[in-house]
Amino acid sequence: MVFDFFLPDQKAFPHTQRKEEQDESMDFQTKEGVNVSISREDVFKFLSRIPNESVDLIVTDPAYSGMNQMLKLGRGKIIGQYSEKGDGQKRFDEFHDTKENYERFLGECRRILKANRHIYIMFDSYSLLSLAPTVRNIFDVKNVIVWDKLNIGLGHYFRRRHEFIVFASKGKKRLNSRNFPDVWRIKRITSAKYPTQKPVELFEMMIAASAEPGYTVLDPFLGSGSSAIASLKRGCNFIGCDVASSSIKISSERIKQFIELKKDILQAENKIEDIPTKKALLNGKS
Ligand SMILES: C[S@@+](CC[C@H](N)C(=O)[O-])C[C@H]1O[C@@H](n2cnc3c(N)ncnc32)[C@H](O)[C@@H]1O
Repeated sequence: MVFDFFLPDQKAFPHTQRKEEQDESMDFQTKEGVNVSISREDVFKFLSRIPNESVDLIVTDPAYSGMNQMLKLGRGKIIGQYSEKGDGQKRFDEFHDTKENYERFLGECRRILKANRHIYIMFDSYSLLSLAPTVRNIFDVKNVIVWDKLNIGLGHYFRRRHEFIVFASKGKKRLNSRNFPDVWRIKRITSAKYPTQKPVELFEMMIAASAEPGYTVLDPFLGSGSSAIASLKRGCNFIGCDVASSSIKISSERIKQFIELKKDILQAENKIEDIPTKKALLNGKS
């Protein structure tokens, strides 16, 4: 184990308990000493093992259930693929985004985040409308960023081309540069190996704006591991989890190959589409 607090002999998490809760976990280290640790676990169990104020940055893209529930009211076209059988009953599990669940989730995020640090949480339109006030109660919300995916996707009435990223802080911390716009034009991933795979550059923007090399970045909804690859690109340590074993299988192979060959096996090319976003990413490099 590369992070002290993941050590199985630690009092609070005796080995037996840990084994039951986590059936797959993997650790990686680059030759420069950057650590990555991922595990198959439910978000709440994972977060409960992380000590208070031990993480420098949280970047995350939760699996919301709200939109699916809304879409079931329509013709069901969009959820068709999403609800295909996979790991369990669904292609991947939903994180039930009730207010109570979300308060608990964000409360845990606040507990583990160091003082004067940032958090980025991705939202679709439905979840933003219902859950943004909860983020405000727990963190200081600074901006709502628009991710412009450039190509339209599916959707009722207007077809979706964007998602939101809520940027918030615990205490006071500046961004690494004043040149970051609040609209990020980054092409969506088409024919992804993992459903809902996000472009690495999306997470790279968050890390470039809010982290320094050596920081520990956390993402408890890992998916294909794009946030882990972004952390490695920026010289940051990473810890993450996902409840789906397909996520751990795909992301661990991706991380391993990236460390060994400096090659991202799930995303061949850079997805940034406009000069201001590209510039911000380069200037934000610390
Ligand atoms: C929107 S996807 C994340 C995609 C990821 N950002 C990427 O680029 O591939 C959400 C992820 O949350 C995971 N998930 C759902 N419920 C979870 C839970 N209770 N605990 C941990 N992960 C969960 C799903 O398996 C899915 O991989």
